[in-house]
Amino acid sequence: MNALLEVLLPGEKDWDLAQAIDPTRLPEHIAIIMDGNGRWAGRRRLPRVAGHQAGIGPVRSTVESCARLGVKVLTLYAFSVENWKRPRHEVETLWRLLRYYLKQELPNLQKNDIRLQAIGRLEALPPQVRRELEAAVDATSANRGLLVNLAINYGGRAEIVDAVNSILEMARLEGSLDSLKIDEELIATSLYTASCPDPDLLIRTSGEMRISNFLLWQIAYAELYVTETLWPDFTRTDLLQAVLAYQKRDRRYGGLSAEPVNGAAKPGAEAFGVPFVGALRPS
Ligand code: FPP
Repeated sequence: MNALLEVLLPGEKDWDLAQAIDPTRLPEHIAIIMDGNGRWAGRRRLPRVAGHQAGIGPVRSTVESCARLGVKVLTLYAFSVENWKRPRHEVETLWRLLRYYLKQELPNLQKNDIRLQAIGRLEALPPQVRRELEAAVDATSANRGLLVNLAINYGGRAEIVDAVNSILEMARLEGSLDSLKIDEELIATSLYTASCPDPDLLIRTSGEMRISNFLLWQIAYAELYVTETLWPDFTRTDLLQAVLAYQKRDRRYGGLSAEPVNGAAKPGAEAFGVPFVGALRPS
């Protein structure tokens, strides 16, 4: 049984969906491209930033539902390296909303044992935003429940470039540059997400069939789920439907059977437990 059923009454909305979920086959890591805020606002003749503001509620409810379900990692694409191209007012609003979210949600995160991490080129964030983000990451660092990765000023290609540069820098410092051999494990453990299993399920809202430079390395074997729902309308129902769709998929990892052959760990799982490299981590 999952803890979601403890807060639902039989017959209540989402009860059937929550009951249909197999708790032994949950995605360990769900990643979400939260898209459609602008269109949501446009359809209501509101400014784009109203869509971002309305996107806070679904962030809150998705974090809560993932924690109750027993998902281990949730990664949310909050701001890409390309998003700086947007009007200044929109970018500033996104920072304001992030600060608002951190302030409002910190007590809830603590109460529910949720740990916050930030992944991306965080050094480019406005100093005040970065300070508040670091404070929230520090404050939740001892929590052992759901890990929420906020991808901020994040780009999948930038992450791989940063990983390769950190490998080179480390080898230079160790004097082992001449004999350096790069393999998949070394790259995986040098990414911002080094301590996480790869995403099992990647959800994108608003119907767009794109990856948009998100977790390019890590989603090699992720199951993709695209919903027409715009992010501000994304509810617990949508999340449960995505998890149920995931549980119907036959994951073969390039092999033939539904289960990894010979009980082998799924690709990327071996990285779980390795310390973060390059991510904003608790000091
Ligand atoms: C994409 O929609 C969404 C974003 C660029 C920002 C996502 C931000 C939030 C959901 C709110 C704050 C988040 C946190 C974690 C506190 P879009 O603007 O590209 O939509 P469109 O494609 O319809 O224009």
